[in-house]
Order: sequence, then structure tokens, then C-alpha cells
Amino acid sequence: MSPAASSTKTLPHPTHGSVSYEASKKTTPHFPQQDFRISQPVAPGTYLGPIDASKPGSDKAPLLFEPIQIKNLQLANRIVVAPMCMYSSQDGFMTDFHLVHLGSYAMHGAGLVIAEATAVEPRGRISPSDTGIWSDDHIPAIKRVVDYVHAAGGKIGIQLAHAGRKASTVPPYNTVDPEAFWKHDVVAPTGDLRWDDHHVNPRELSVEEIQEVVAAFGAAARRADMAGMDTVEIHGAHGYLINNFLSAVTNQRTDQYGGSFENRARFLMEIIRAVRANFSNEKPIFLRVSATDWLEWKEDTPSWDIEQTVELAKLVKEAGVDVFHVSSGGNHVLQKIKPVPGYQVPFAERVKHEVPGLVVVAVGAITSGQQANDILVHEKADLIAVARGYLRDPGFALTAARELNVKAKFSQQYERGRIQGHVLQPSGLLPPAAGRSSLRSSLKAPASSSSQGHASGQVRWPMNLDQLAAISLDDDSDLDHEGMF
Ligand SMILES: Cc1cc2nc3c(=O)[nH]c(=O)nc-3n(C[C@H](O)[C@H](O)[C@H](O)COP(=O)(O)O)c2cc1C
Repeated sequence: MSPAASSTKTLPHPTHGSVSYEASKKTTPHFPQQDFRISQPVAPGTYLGPIDASKPGSDKAPLLFEPIQIKNLQLANRIVVAPMCMYSSQDGFMTDFHLVHLGSYAMHGAGLVIAEATAVEPRGRISPSDTGIWSDDHIPAIKRVVDYVHAAGGKIGIQLAHAGRKASTVPPYNTVDPEAFWKHDVVAPTGDLRWDDHHVNPRELSVEEIQEVVAAFGAAARRADMAGMDTVEIHGAHGYLINNFLSAVTNQRTDQYGGSFENRARFLMEIIRAVRANFSNEKPIFLRVSATDWLEWKEDTPSWDIEQTVELAKLVKEAGVDVFHVSSGGNHVLQKIKPVPGYQVPFAERVKHEVPGLVVVAVGAITSGQQANDILVHEKADLIAVARGYLRDPGFALTAARELNVKAKFSQQYERGRIQGHVLQPSGLLPPAAGRSSLRSSLKAPASSSSQGHASGQVRWPMNLDQLAAISLDDDSDLDHEGMF
């Protein structure tokens, strides 16, 4: 067997196999010093004022950097890291990867981090490499991440998920032991309706089994609560089990879980009640939905659409959902998505306007601070979630802050990185930081600069030692050396 294959082989489950969590704690020494944390009196990502007070609109924080309170969850800003499957687990356990990955977003000022789709039962994983929360054994590793995020001054939730008919697929990387799949036990509201030829043909859940899945969501919420999660997000989107039940295109049942809108929503409503009953009442609950199957073009096919989403939003608000996270698609292979910038924002806007009091999250192709803030200013949503932008830039919130002329709190350990005022930029000239104009004019261009085609009166990059020596600073230079050494 190759090293890659052996490293991803499924291990005996700790509760049932030879390795128990309690036993592993006894063999691994733990020193109290390992729990030492630097305190963060001000949450990273908190608005501290404008970078340049002379810019218009700098008298108050842009909406994106206004704090928000949802039940007892206080967020420093309105930027949420959207849940993202990382396919980096074995038997569902979070690892060092999750600690660094999720912890880093908190350190870099995200208002809220939502951990990836985490399976409430083993067969509800998209792949054998998904995170899971179907066992109490998963709690300590999740709690380790939660404790770290809290110590870093951030807030964290976890997405509770069941992959339904899209379960038991091959993860995008690494070799997984063929025995780790469960092709015989991929479940859906209606059997024999597979996503495509690369997916398993699912079997239909019995009513008794539906009740077991509902209970699994409740138990998962209790575990998330025990791990200290600030919120949970029920995954009702992207063609996974709850979405399969909601949409008539994937739910062709004739019992109380199929047919009418109320019947198709019954499974979700029972899950919401189970989650609410098992999660601390003062903490909010998120629900993520696909606002449409993107099948409107197929007029002869009944599918899920924004009208039903609005009706659902009213129902779930009454049942105890506090935050409605509006995504789309993923339920049918014939979907026709229009992935333009902010393509899902109009769906979020509809819900926000028609269901007052429900906190609404917009997500999807939101790539800049300005775009995110505009969505909030135009009252299309209350929070902004970003996924791929966070993979590109774990400091997305701090980048957005700079773009919006916001001086945002850095984590204590990283605070010195915020000041870039005295660093020459590779493109030339002096730094973009505010209030540097006097410094800029105080720099005398070296005599040789014009002969090298540089702009007159200013130093361009790269410069040599002679040029550096030729730069003179006025006595009243505002050059700030603080934090350089
Ligand atoms: C690598 C990756 C993994 C994802 N995993 C999840 C997931 O676990 N749960 C979920 O609801 N959405 C998941 N998504 C969808 C994102 O949360 C988000 O809705 C989507 O990428 C659109 O936002 P963006 O344009 O900011 O990336 C994933 C997206 C990416 C790129």
C-alpha cells in the first residue's frame, strides 16, 4: 500500500476500536503551559477609526465594520467566513489543519467563522474525509478549535450537515481506502434518483429512519454546544439531504414528508425543533438554504424557487431560526446558474424585505470590501459571507478594512503589521498610508534619479545605496519608526 493510501486508511472508531480518546489522553503528556494564551481585549477586526480622517464619510464606521448582536452573539464586524469542506479528516475528527485553518481566520479579524459541513451521522458525509459530529468522541477536537478561536478574540459556529444522495463520494485529494465508502447506504427522500452517473444510486429513507436523522441533528447540536460553539448552522442547501426533501424535483414521496410544501418542509422543521431544543437558548441558530434549484428554465419540472424560499423563511423564523443564509443551487444536475458578481444577493434581498426581523446573510461572488459594504448599505442583507475570497486571502476582513479606509484592530501579536506607512512600495513612490504627504514632499530625490528615468522629485523602486544615502528627511519628518525593530 502506498504511504498516501495508508495515511488515509480508516481507523477503528475510538469508541468501538482499540484506540479510545480517554486512553490516548493518558499516554500523551499535557503541560499546563500549553494552555497559555495572549489575551485579546479588543476583538481583531474591530473598527478603531478611519485610516485617513480627511476622506469623505470617515466620521463613522462603514456598515461592514459596525458590530452586530444576534441573541448573545456579539460580532465585531459583519464579515462571515462561509463554511468550506476541506476534506482533511479521518473518521470525522478535526485535526491540526482545522485549528490552523479556522484559527487563522479568527486571528485575521473575521467577524464569524463557520466551520465546514460536519456530518451528523457517518453516512451523511460527502466523503470519508469530511468532519463529523456524530459521536461524543469528536467533541474534544472541536472544542480545541473553539477554545483557540475564542482566545484569538473571534467567534465560531459549525455547519451541521447530512449529504443525502450526494454522500460517499471520492474526496478531491488523497487516496482513500476503498473500504471507507458506504455505497450501499446512501440515503435520500426518494430512492433511485441519483445526482449523476458518478454518484451512488440512493435508497429511500423510511419514516423511522427519518426520525433517527432528526434525532442525529439534535444530538449534534448538543455536542456543538458542549464544545462551546457560538452558533450552529443547519445545512439546508446545495442538494444535500434537507434540500433533497424541500424540493419537489428530488422529493417524490407520497407520505407526510412529500407532496405539499408543508410536507416537504416537515423534515427541516423537525430538525430545527430538535436543534433548538439541544442548543443553548441564548445562542442563535443559522439556517443555510438554496434559494432556487436554478431549474426555472425547465417549466415542466416542479422545483424549488425563491417564492417557496420566502415562505420557508417565515416558517423557520417562527420555529426558532435567527439567521437565514441565502445560497443557491446544487440540487439538480440540469441547473443553470448565473454566476455573475453577487449573483445570490437578489435572493437574500427578497427574504430580507419580506421577512422582517430575520437576520439575512448574503453570499456568492462577493470579492471586495466595497461590494460587501454596498450590499449592506442598500439593505440587501445584514451579514456578508465569503468563501473563495478567504482561501485567496485569510486576511480578507483586514484587506476589506483598508479598502474602506478603516483602521481595524489586528490581533495583539500581529499589531505591528498594520503600520506600513514608512515602507517603500515596490511600484515606487511612498506608502499609501494617510497623512504621509508631508513625508513624501520631505524626501529629496537623488540627483541620479532623473538620469535613470525616474519621476522628478520622488524616489522610485528599486533604488541603490547611493540613492538611499541621497534621501534626506526634514527635522520635523513624521516618519514613524515605531514597531520597526
Ligand atoms: C472549497 C469550498 C468548500 C465549500 N464547502 C461548503 C460547505 O461545507 N458548506 C456549504 O454550505 N458551502 C460550501 N461551499 C460553498 C461556499 O460556502 C460558498 O457558498 C460559495 O463558495 C460561494 O461563495 P464565494 O463566491 O465567496 O466562494 C464551499 C465552497 C468552496 C470553495
